[in-house]
Amino acid sequence: MNDTPDNSDAAKVERPVNSGRRRFCQVAIGGTAVVSGATVAYPIVAFLRLPKSLGPMAMMEVPVEELSEGYGYWGEHMGKQIVVVKLNDEIRAFDGTCTHLGCMVRWDSTSGGFQCPCHDAKFDDLGNPIAGPANTPLRRVEFVVEEGVLKIRDAAGRA
Ligand code: FES
Repeated sequence: MNDTPDNSDAAKVERPVNSGRRRFCQVAIGGTAVVSGATVAYPIVAFLRLPKSLGPMAMMEVPVEELSEGYGYWGEHMGKQIVVVKLNDEIRAFDGTCTHLGCMVRWDSTSGGFQCPCHDAKFDDLGNPIAGPANTPLRRVEFVVEEGVLKIRDAAGRA
């Protein structure tokens, strides 16, 4: 009789490997990492990406015929990001700086209001805060229309 253990390949027992569960865990962990990274990165990128930069001395002038109903038109006036919207044939201009902590808001043509990507403040079409942490309206900016061209009034965007 042979008392020595059999070490041949035939005697080895393969452990069942649950490759489906392992693969699921890998995908779940990878997906969670991607979603977490995007959640952190989006507000940072949105904050850093200003809509349009013309320089600190640029004067914003917009031919009124270029303004489309319901859409926001961004420009820079003396270093300030200004958004002009036309709603029901009424033109309004705002400083695009969120009144919470200073991120640039976005005009949402679907809802007809402003949204801030940083902490999700929402403002109505008059710039009044309606949701989120901001409790001060967006600053209205005065303008004139001369010969079909909208012109922001002064360096601070104030009349
Ligand atoms: S900076 Fe806009 S909600 Fe905070």
